[in-house]
Amino acid sequence: MQLDAIYTPVQDDLARVEARLKAVSQVDFPHLAELLDYSLKSNGKRIRPVLTLISGKFYDYDLDNLLSMATAVEIMHTATLVHDDAIDKSSVRRGRPTVNAVWNDEKAILLGDYLFAEAGAMTASTNNLRAIKLFAETLKTISSGELNQAYNAFNLKQSRTQYFQRVAQKTAALFCMATESGAAMSQAPEEAIQVLNEYGYNLGVAFQIVDDILDFIGTKEELGKPAGSDLAQGTITLPAMLLMERYPDNPIKRLMDSNDRQGEIKRAIEMVRNSLIIQECYQVASDYCDEACRGLELLPDKVGRQSLIDLAGYITIRKK
Ligand code: IPE
Ligand code: IPE
Ligand code: MG
Ligand code: MG
Repeated sequence: MQLDAIYTPVQDDLARVEARLKAVSQVDFPHLAELLDYSLKSNGKRIRPVLTLISGKFYDYDLDNLLSMATAVEIMHTATLVHDDAIDKSSVRRGRPTVNAVWNDEKAILLGDYLFAEAGAMTASTNNLRAIKLFAETLKTISSGELNQAYNAFNLKQSRTQYFQRVAQKTAALFCMATESGAAMSQAPEEAIQVLNEYGYNLGVAFQIVDDILDFIGTKEELGKPAGSDLAQGTITLPAMLLMERYPDNPIKRLMDSNDRQGEIKRAIEMVRNSLIIQECYQVASDYCDEACRGLELLPDKVGRQSLIDLAGYITIRKK
């Protein structure tokens, strides 16, 4: 199923979120306005704000606060991307040059800071203490995950447990914030909030595993961002871990000391593509998607429930 179809139950509200995102760039300082407009433009998939809106649909749909929360979640996501691209020295995102490429790293870091603060202010505007705490905790968790990744660059002795922990921190945490805050805005009972939190967690882990797969099998044109960049950064993801486990003599082992790093990366990608590793990784992602859906029947039988199931189905077939 395509995203547009899955988003149907919240499409009007998503349009309102887009309008709120646009409003964020209406500031007096023209340079900042330009940076905000550029980074918040609607080329992203908008999965996280949709999760917030749908999660808010099961109980009292409090539209105004939900719109603020969904907008805050997407702004926070944007901030992580702007920083991530500066850290990775990446030049393309969403099919366009990154902020660090058009401007520079300094502007990207400061813009990211501004966006984090904007997301915090918007979360606080809901007056929902749970959401405000969640915002702060999530930002700490994502930063820890990114630091963990930085400290483990080119560390070939990482366990799978470490990989899953990092994925949970850097990606699933924000998915949890998206679903949990949506549920909390709508006065959902605690059990329902937990169900949606766990859905967000499992979906988020699956989402990052697929992102890591696409880094091996996708193209820059399809992805709108560079492929093969994880190994270039020394980020050891699930496909790379499986390659090292299965083939003791592999190009990743030679990566650190090689004077032809690009060549080794190319050979590693070829090896992964010509093995069963990709299928295995998809199986792991798909198991997380199944797990995500397991608790959903505890939620009221509303239209959003099917969207969550369809979204889990979309994760493993997505090409970008
Ligand atoms: C990219 O997220 C960052 C990851 C967690 C892998 P998305 O793939 O959702 O990015 P956009 O918002 O659609 O560009
Ligand atoms: C994204 O992970 C995690 C963030 C917190 C931004 P990636 O580093 O895999 O994201 P992409 O592939 O650059 O989008
Ligand atoms: Mg990156
Ligand atoms: Mg990636």
